[in-house]
Amino acid sequence: MALRVGMLTSGGDCQGLNPAMRGVAKALYEHAEDTQIIGFLNGYEGLMTGHSLKMRESDFSGILTRGGTILGTSRQPFKSMNDPLEEGRLDGPTKLEAMIDTYKTMSLDALVILGGNGTHKTANLLHENGLNVVTLPKTIDNDIWGTKRTFGYQSAIDIATQVIDGIHTTATSHGRVFIIEIMGHKVGWMTLEAGIAGGADVILIPEIPYDPLALLKALNRRDKKNKRFSIIAIAEGAKTKAEAAMSKAEYEEHRKNSRHPSVAYELAETLDAMMVQEVRCTVPGHFQRGGEPCPYDRVLTTRLGVAAANAIINREFGVMMAYINDEIAHVPLAEVAGRLKYVPLDHDLIQVARQTGISFGDEV
Ligand code: F6P
Repeated sequence: MALRVGMLTSGGDCQGLNPAMRGVAKALYEHAEDTQIIGFLNGYEGLMTGHSLKMRESDFSGILTRGGTILGTSRQPFKSMNDPLEEGRLDGPTKLEAMIDTYKTMSLDALVILGGNGTHKTANLLHENGLNVVTLPKTIDNDIWGTKRTFGYQSAIDIATQVIDGIHTTATSHGRVFIIEIMGHKVGWMTLEAGIAGGADVILIPEIPYDPLALLKALNRRDKKNKRFSIIAIAEGAKTKAEAAMSKAEYEEHRKNSRHPSVAYELAETLDAMMVQEVRCTVPGHFQRGGEPCPYDRVLTTRLGVAAANAIINREFGVMMAYINDEIAHVPLAEVAGRLKYVPLDHDLIQVARQTGISFGDEV
């Protein structure tokens, strides 16, 4: 009997989704030519409604270098999984029941889910409800527990680094302070790596709350060394020490009431009031997760994809394909779900940054 495998991409997109699916598909077709792959459209939404495509082998050709996802994606909050599929229709199935029903009705042997943190919580729930699930870790944020690296991360670092490089030249010409806001949600991985790669003078990440006065001191130190400009790489989730001391609700209220669209602009206003040098902001935003996957991600996704196909063939389910010590390993979904991978404070990159004169805005 031919293997029938469902596939979906869920959550925010990133580079590498297409080559990852290609890796899974090619290895499955190599294993058995009559493999049937069903592509669910727009993430879990497709699994809930059955909105899907019968994929052909040729659909997976020519997508190694293509950004985005050929299946489309959407965000489906984990906390809504027990809500009715049709809003307000309490006699109908819940979203979870609808997904289980589609899986069974389509007689699937396995389901490959490509996604980030929220996606993994739902993937684990589906596994707990008897579905044969295998997942792949995607996100530019690199915040998925259980894997050293996620795919999309390196491609986004490359883009963020290019942004810092570009800003460097104009900052030098004008002798300005530039604040560059880098994505990463609640963690600082991208800002840390792109900041080091781009030669930022200050790196501000959520894991190390900063003090604006300490930051000013670091900028003044540069001034004393006759450095005309400074580059601050700030993570979108970075907080001042005062903000870090707030409760979750207080912080949300504080952000909601802010005049500024994001943390970079808020910091710019603070610094503007304290210094003579001109301050400017650059926020590359979603540009960081657009475009083609870099060669590193093409290789990583191909490895992860092939590993997912092997897991299906060997009937090893309920696991995420992870990258650990340069090898692909299986990590149980129950371990991954609901946990975030922050930058550890003793990470060697933090030490390396400090020893090369980079400030984290926390020095007294
Ligand atoms: O998780 C990936 C990510 O790009 C984060 O870095 C960012 O905070 C978020 O998604 C943006 O979400 P959206 O695409 O919904 O605006």
